Amino acid sequence: AKVQDMSSEKVLAAKNMAFVFDIDGVLVHGDRLIPEGRRVLEILNGDNELGIKIPHIFLTNGSGKPELPRCEQLSKILHSPISTDQFIQSHTPMRALAEYYKTVLVVGGEGYKCREVAEQYGFQDIVVPNDIVAWDPTIAPYRVFTEEERVTSRPRDFSKVNIEAIMVFSDSRDYATDMQIIMDLLRSEDGRLHTVAKDPVAQRIPIYFSQGDMLCPTEHPIPRMSQGTFRIGLEAMYKSLTGVELERVVYGKPELATYKYADEVITSWMDQIHNEEKLPSNIYMIGDNPASDIVGGNLYGWNTCLVRTGVFQGGDNDENNPANFGVFKNVLEAVSTAICKEL
Ligand code: G3P
Ligand code: MG
Repeated sequence: AKVQDMSSEKVLAAKNMAFVFDIDGVLVHGDRLIPEGRRVLEILNGDNELGIKIPHIFLTNGSGKPELPRCEQLSKILHSPISTDQFIQSHTPMRALAEYYKTVLVVGGEGYKCREVAEQYGFQDIVVPNDIVAWDPTIAPYRVFTEEERVTSRPRDFSKVNIEAIMVFSDSRDYATDMQIIMDLLRSEDGRLHTVAKDPVAQRIPIYFSQGDMLCPTEHPIPRMSQGTFRIGLEAMYKSLTGVELERVVYGKPELATYKYADEVITSWMDQIHNEEKLPSNIYMIGDNPASDIVGGNLYGWNTCLVRTGVFQGGDNDENNPANFGVFKNVLEAVSTAICKEL
């Protein structure tokens, strides 16, 4: 009976913990698997001493693709099924904005993929920079616009359209064009191109960014600039052109709104796997970036684990944003240590 008591206690403990995984630098590098990631998901999906699922979700600042194809791609790389119901990309919480704005400019990402993302979020009238360049190529004087881009764009007379908000979903593929169009819209009368508002604030449309990372590790030896640097460039330009500060909203880690959204996702995922709609008490964030994963997790009261397979290259712990549960060689070490402590 004692053995049974112990194991039911462990089952309760296993249901009262949850893992939140960063993706890039923890489970994968781009499309390449970090091998320990595969084993971790097997353990959490039931290959453990209790034979039960240990709740876990994925919280990435990644962007640029609809959730379903990205989950399918990750499921293949990680050899474990990943559901869209346990998956948050940087722009996922921005779906809530579809209720407030009808016509939006969506910026960033490859080709027209972010248009597709916005459609799936329920935005009704989606404009991308190419639609505007196709209407008026003089808006971006140095842009070389290909025939293919012309054919796939959706031009209309944007001097008669009010764009109600700007959503930067992913990294800009053309800073010069995107910054010019965003600046034109921010300075316009209520988002109408070919106009300049007299008062830079009263008629300014809002701008949202899906995440704030300055740098992103890539194949290049030195990390590349990301949405944070793009935003800072825009803020500086806006200030020098208008004399006023640009107000903006940033999503993604380490922003509070994203962690609150993660709580909701964990709670409903618990309901799906254990029929209990409750938030586990012991949440572990496993990340590689002290400036996003760890600082956000620390502020939100989660246990934070920093791994050495990504951005963090430092000594014992990060100096500015130390992980409160510890620094680990890889994701498997972090997860095994957390499970050992809780069960
Ligand atoms: O910086 C953007 C993205 O690549 C970061 O992804 O999964 O490390 O939050 P992740
Ligand atoms: Mg990462």
